[in-house]
Amino acid sequence: MHFCKIKSVLEKAGFLGGDASSQLQVTLVDVPSNDWNKVADTFFKPGAVGCAGNILPSLVPKSFYAGEVAPAGSLHIGISVDALQWLSHAPPISLKDSITYVDGGPTHVEAFRRQFEGDAEHFLRLRAMEFGPGGLLMLVLPGTLGGRHICEGLLSCVSDAATELSAQGKIDASLLEDFIWPIYVPTEDELESIVNKAGYWEVLQRGGVSLTQMWDAYRESEDADAYAKVLTAIIFSAGGLLLRSRLAISEDTLQELRDKAEELVRKDPNKYVFRNIHVAVLLRRTRRRQSVDTGR
Ligand SMILES: C[S@@+](CC[C@H](N)C(=O)[O-])C[C@H]1O[C@@H](n2cnc3c(N)ncnc32)[C@H](O)[C@@H]1O
Repeated sequence: MHFCKIKSVLEKAGFLGGDASSQLQVTLVDVPSNDWNKVADTFFKPGAVGCAGNILPSLVPKSFYAGEVAPAGSLHIGISVDALQWLSHAPPISLKDSITYVDGGPTHVEAFRRQFEGDAEHFLRLRAMEFGPGGLLMLVLPGTLGGRHICEGLLSCVSDAATELSAQGKIDASLLEDFIWPIYVPTEDELESIVNKAGYWEVLQRGGVSLTQMWDAYRESEDADAYAKVLTAIIFSAGGLLLRSRLAISEDTLQELRDKAEELVRKDPNKYVFRNIHVAVLLRRTRRRQSVDTGR
């Protein structure tokens, strides 16, 4: 993210007093286990994209569910991309032969939907304390559009690979059965109704987009090797640590799992179609909490 560009857009839009000498405080929030050295290097070392005299960075190693991440009323603009789908924890239910809640049918979907609703409401109420009236918050996350969603090809290659390794005794079968990827991919309607239920925010804009064309072309280009590598890189960079700890596997077994997933995708790319589907809402902090119609 190029903070200087964001700053100049904000100046043109009349934020920051419209003066190039103004300062922009940037607060990056992520979990404590994030690679903070990499973040600092990428964004803030001399010459890096976020580095400029009038950009003031602060790094907050804290879960966005764990309480305030900024002083009350101090934030004006918030951007959350590809993060809110991560639940605070997965509901305690198990599932055989898959790590994707959707494959468990209606009971699993409902348990994950409720968890997401609770987590997202909590997130929105916490953020409401940190933003002043008029503050803008954009949420972009993997979602569901027309019944299709991002978990389909992306997670099923890990499920299939893990099932094979478990059959070979390399992954504990009961740990695998208890592990479901702790994400939920909402529809636009679900997201909007959670915002309304949480209060404090109004929806200025909402949208959903399916960016699968690029991936379809990639998959069909006959370079199955490149497709398999990219697909597994997405999953294992986001969830490698999680898989290691929840399946209690060594670094070597994690690598074997990744190699197996890659091999499965390479052999049959059309079985693992990546659906790059995202939903988004742009929210504005209202002056006071909106009254919520509870239907009573
Ligand atoms: C797929 S990455 C997206 C990173 C970045 N927003 C981007 O678009 O490139 C998801 C990020 O969300 C972070 N994340 C997940 N759960 C979180 C939580 N509860 N609190 C703060 N960050 C969280 C992960 O650690 C990870 O860095």
